[in-house]
This record gives sequence, structure tokens and C-alpha cells, in this order.
Amino acid sequence: MKNILMLASEAVPFIKTGGLADVVGSLPKTIDKQYYDCRVMIPKYMCIPWEWRQKMEYVTHFYMNYLGQDRYVGVLKYEHQGVTYYFIDNESYFSGDRPYGDWYWDLEKFCFFCYAALSALPLLDWHPDVIHCHDWQTGLVPVLLHDRFAGGEYYRSIKSVITIHNLKFQGVWDVKTIQRFTQLSDYYFTPDKLECKKDGNLLKGGLVYADAITTVSDTYAEEIKMPFYGEGLDGLLRARAHDLRGIVNGIDYDDWNPETDKYLVKPFNARNFRKEKAKNKKALQEQFGMNVDPGKMMIGIVSRLTDQKGLDLVECIMDELCQDDIQFVVLGTGDEKYENMFRHYDWKYHDKVSAQIYYSNEISHKIYASCDAYLMPSLFEPCGLSQLIALRYGTVPIVRETGGLRDTVQPYNEYEDSGNGFSFSNYNAHEMLGTIRYAESVYYDHKREWNKLVDRAMAADYSWKTSVMKYQELYDWLIGY
Ligand code: ADP
Ligand code: GLC
Repeated sequence: MKNILMLASEAVPFIKTGGLADVVGSLPKTIDKQYYDCRVMIPKYMCIPWEWRQKMEYVTHFYMNYLGQDRYVGVLKYEHQGVTYYFIDNESYFSGDRPYGDWYWDLEKFCFFCYAALSALPLLDWHPDVIHCHDWQTGLVPVLLHDRFAGGEYYRSIKSVITIHNLKFQGVWDVKTIQRFTQLSDYYFTPDKLECKKDGNLLKGGLVYADAITTVSDTYAEEIKMPFYGEGLDGLLRARAHDLRGIVNGIDYDDWNPETDKYLVKPFNARNFRKEKAKNKKALQEQFGMNVDPGKMMIGIVSRLTDQKGLDLVECIMDELCQDDIQFVVLGTGDEKYENMFRHYDWKYHDKVSAQIYYSNEISHKIYASCDAYLMPSLFEPCGLSQLIALRYGTVPIVRETGGLRDTVQPYNEYEDSGNGFSFSNYNAHEMLGTIRYAESVYYDHKREWNKLVDRAMAADYSWKTSVMKYQELYDWLIGY
């Protein structure tokens, strides 16, 4: 049996702010249990719903010296869908109504988490062969395995891999601060290690010291070796190109299944979507107070409202788009400028546009199921799960050709009768509008072709089936078979 520990800052169903939680919550349960024992460790945030917290079992606790004080580290455990989850408890670090917020505090919090996680392991009666880290919050772990924990018998054979879900966030502050939180010596703060552009950088530590690096699509793995997408780390990623690979994300096919989805007014499948899917749209139009007309083309967005997602392009053409015969639904929270932009268009075109500015898993299911098209014009997109969910619900994605969007959405080709979505290449609002209008023309004037697009979208396999094999191969390679 090979033992794998996933270390992350969020995991569905306990706590989620974005796609990272979906991945950490769904990949482990697809890993072959006959050969691998994959467990997950995350912080025990106070904002994890009580429903889950009350089920966690106490495992052990100890005091760990961190930043000159003895600090409490509790370990709790809960088995969910065949996967063991460990939770690191410390109420002063993991309180608050969200997992992240204040940058400075988050840096200290996740450095503490990395120390606590590694210190807790020997008490668990279990030994991981590989620690699989995710994003900057766990970037310190490969460094500590090389440094503070390198001498111990327990840690010596542990290999590490780090997955980049988003290179934009790196855990950066001035060197003095990062040095204090990481408790590492001067040796580590040079430009070939944790220093980057004169600052301290936690993700960089992970990328330098992990035995392997992955990211969540092939295209993003290529893009981040170039300055535009590399966020200042492209040089390092080029240098480590041999140890860097892209493994595209999958989605949880049990959670996201239009046939069994309990949130839908009318569940549907690849055979009956022509009749049934639009019934969900009608119910949503009623719920959101839009014009009720199931024949109207509805375009949806479910997203964090940040610059990454290409929303300035949407802002630029929103008035023009609203002259067309379409409806537009957005569910999301994030930057105030985008929240207010969508609220404004909801006010201005109330029958056509609905802005739902909050977080709701239930409403997200309804939107993915009800819309005809799903818009995702990202500036960059490591993988993107939303377009995969949309495809599964027969909602045709309209995307910009970047990162995982490029790898998962094949543009419609009317001559070859192929493709499962629409795409455009340049970060240009009118190129996007042209593509949306092309989709509108297929929807209204070539319905049979549109339905075939939906057929192809729903037929494609975006489960973890293929990608999990790639992670398993990587673990085998790290452990040495
Ligand atoms: P990212 O991780 O960059 O936010 P992804 O497409 O990988 O983008 O994943 C986003 C996930 O978060 C999807 O499952 C999406 O449905 C979900 N999501 C984003 N915003 C909301 C919201 N306001 N309410 C419900 N789910 C949301
Ligand atoms: C990040 C990326 C997104 C990806 C997700 C899960 O949040 O922005 O593209 O799908 O992580 O890997």
C-alpha cells in the first residue's frame, strides 16, 4: 500500500472558496483504494459548518513551539466517502468567518499550519510516502522536509509534490516577515530559493524544493513558463521544466449529475434534454423575476468576480449584448466594481439580466442546468471547473482559449460538425461579442446543430477517470515503484 497525504487549505464538503476545494474534495476518493491510501489534512476552521464539525473525532493534541510560544495543536479526524480527513485545530489561528482575509495574518496562519501538519504526522500511526501540497498555503512543507524535519527518521523517505492551482497567489511579504514566519535561516533567502524580487515567497519555496511540480492543465503548464502568465516565476518554472507536468482536473460526477441533481426542478439526461432542460430555465426565470420564455437563449456565469475571469471584457460589451435577444444570469461574489457592475445591468435591463451577488451551491446547480450557454472569457485560467460542469449539464461553453479552457473546450466547426463549445483567442471584448453572436445565430437559426453541440458536450467525459491515473503514475514514480 502506498500512502499519500494531501495537504491543502480547503476541501469540499467542509470548506470551499473556489475550485481548489472541489479538487481536494473529489480527487482523493477516485484514487485506487487497492493500492493507495490517500488521506487529506486541512485546518479546522471555525467557519466549517457545525454539521461537519460535530462529527469530527478527537485524535490527539500537543503543544508546539512556534514564534517563541508553545501553541496548541489539536488533530481531529472524520471519514467521508471512504477518505480519511484530518483537521488541524488551533482556535486562535483558525477562527473568523472565512478561511482567508487579511494577507499578513494568512501568512502566519498557513506557516503555522505547515509546521503543525508535519509535527502531527508521527502521532497518527501512519506514515505518508508522498505529501501532495496544493498552492502557496502549503508551499513551506517541501522546504521544511528539506530543512527542519530532514534529520528525523520518520520524515527521511517522504517525497513531496506541489500542485499549482493559481500562480497569481504566492504568499509574498518582505523577507524579514517571511523569514520570521517560516523560521528559516538566511541560507534560504537568496534569489535561487525563497527570495523573489527582493521579497520572501512561500510558493517559490515549494516550487524549488518539491520533488515534482504539477499544474491543472497542459496549456497552463506551458503558459507559466512564459513571462505573461509566469507571475515572476517563469524562469524557475523553465528551469524545473523536467519536473513540471500538467494534469487536467476532473469534476465529481456524483455531485454534478443532471440526472440525479436534487436541486433541479426537472432533472434531465443526454436523451431527454431537448424537452426537459428548458423546464429548469422557465423555473429560474420565474424565481429571478425575468421574462418567462423558455425559448429565449440564456447565458450564465457562476464565478468569483475578479480580474482573472475576464469580467472587464463583459463590462465593455454589456450594453451592446443586452440589445440582443438573450437573457443573462450571473451568480458570484468578489471585487466590488464587478458586483456593482452586474447590479447596475440588472437594474437597467431587469427583464433580461439577473445579478445574484452571493454564494450558493444550490443556485449554482440551477444556473448550470438552466442556461443554454456558459460564458468564461478568462484572462488566465489554470484549469477551470465551471466550464466542465456546464458541459456536463449540456450548457454550451463560450470561452477564451487559455489554460484549461483551451484544453477542455473544442470550438464548434460547422463544416466538420465537431466541437462542444465556442472559443475566441485574443483578450478583446468585441472578439468575444462576435463569438457570443455566432453562438446566438446557431441557437436561433440552426437548432438541430445546436442540439448536436449539446449532445457532444454531454457525451464527453470530464470525470477524474483519466487524470487520476496520471496522479497515480506520478506517485509511483516518486516512490520508486
Ligand atoms: P476558481 O477556482 O478560479 O474560482 P473554478 O472554475 O476552478 O474557478 O472553480 C470555481 C468553483 O466555485 C466552481 O465549482 C463554481 O461553481 C464555484 N463557485 C464560484 N462562485 C460561486 C458562487 N457565488 N456560488 C456558488 N458556487 C460558486
Ligand atoms: C484555481 C484556478 C482554477 C482551477 C482551480 C482548481 O482556483 O483558478 O482555474 O480550476 O484552481 O484547480
